[in-house]
Amino acid sequence: MKGRDAMRKIAILGLGSYLPDAVLTNDELSRMVNTSDEWITTRTGIRERHLLAKGQTNTDMGREAAIRALADANLTAQDITHVLYATCTGDYITPSASCLLCDKLGIAGRFAVDLNAACSGWLFSLVVARGLIAAEPEARVLLVAAEALSGRTNWQDRSTCVLFGDGASALVLGAAGQGRALAVLEDIETGTDGSLGPLLHFGGPGVSGGPYKAGDPVGEEYFISMNGRDIYKHAVRNMAAISREVLARNNMTVADVDMLVPHQANMRIIEAVGARLEIPAEKVYVNLPETGNTSAASIPLALDDARRQGKLTSGMRVLTCTFGGGLTWSAALFQF
Ligand code: ACO
Repeated sequence: MKGRDAMRKIAILGLGSYLPDAVLTNDELSRMVNTSDEWITTRTGIRERHLLAKGQTNTDMGREAAIRALADANLTAQDITHVLYATCTGDYITPSASCLLCDKLGIAGRFAVDLNAACSGWLFSLVVARGLIAAEPEARVLLVAAEALSGRTNWQDRSTCVLFGDGASALVLGAAGQGRALAVLEDIETGTDGSLGPLLHFGGPGVSGGPYKAGDPVGEEYFISMNGRDIYKHAVRNMAAISREVLARNNMTVADVDMLVPHQANMRIIEAVGARLEIPAEKVYVNLPETGNTSAASIPLALDDARRQGKLTSGMRVLTCTFGGGLTWSAALFQF
């Protein structure tokens, strides 16, 4: 890769992830709400999810993932020039998770900003990272994607509480063609449709859509609310279509893809996307049974898991695709 091409491409220099120690199994959930391991496993593929410990926050997880990604890149926090934090469940509305993370990593003075594209947050943040690196080729961008959805889960609502988990992932990014890299981002596309936002939402105190007075009780609008059937339809349709679009404009077919790493939301969505793309099931990486849906954190968590399992190795072409609240969706091609 030379000249302008090299300038336009960004590389993953390091990858790390973190899941909290506490695990909530389907059997334990069945003692909290009227559900069963059989229902959850059959409808979603999820067996367990990790939950934040009391007192632990989103940026505590983000810090652990960031430290692992920095070590993987053989860099220190001091080398980082920009911090992007993909989340819709930060510790506060302000200060931002990215500013809190900088402090937890012992760095200051960096460009630091949070990005909210719900489950699609890490891929949307990659687009922003690509722009930052194009403007400043020496930039070293730390992209953390972490979610603490357990705090936004109504643990009495069986239709949503079985789906989500907490977790964090982190990538160190820089310009491609400047030495050792784990993977190069070859192409990425995004889509949004705000008119469908009501299909998946949470609000409540702290947002202008739900003004509160001091002392008001927290209402149901604070917790995740979802039209599961409609989300399923839009997720399958858009994840498959945007994946095809990215492949086609790179003159590729699924036969050129070694591994598909889709958003780990739900086994039925993953299987339906795989079927639409006509990609063999053995090429589709899944770690959903052990994590549940960790929203923005999910795909890099799966990539890191695949690498640690020895299933994602150098030379592989990886397609990722995601879908989330907003509504938002995206697909990206990587050369590992
Ligand atoms: N345990 C037992 N029964 C349940 C549960 C549960 N946890 N949840 C719902 N049910 C019941 C319902 O009450 C309903 O009962 P009824 O027929 O007596 O009224 C029945 O199961 C069927 O309910 P549906 O909501 O129609 O179930 P469906 O087959 O659609 O499956 C599911 C629900 C799994 C949520 C499905 O709609 C889905 O996969 N949607 C995708 C949503 C998703 O994954 N969102 C993640 C966030 S967005 C993203 O990351 C892409």
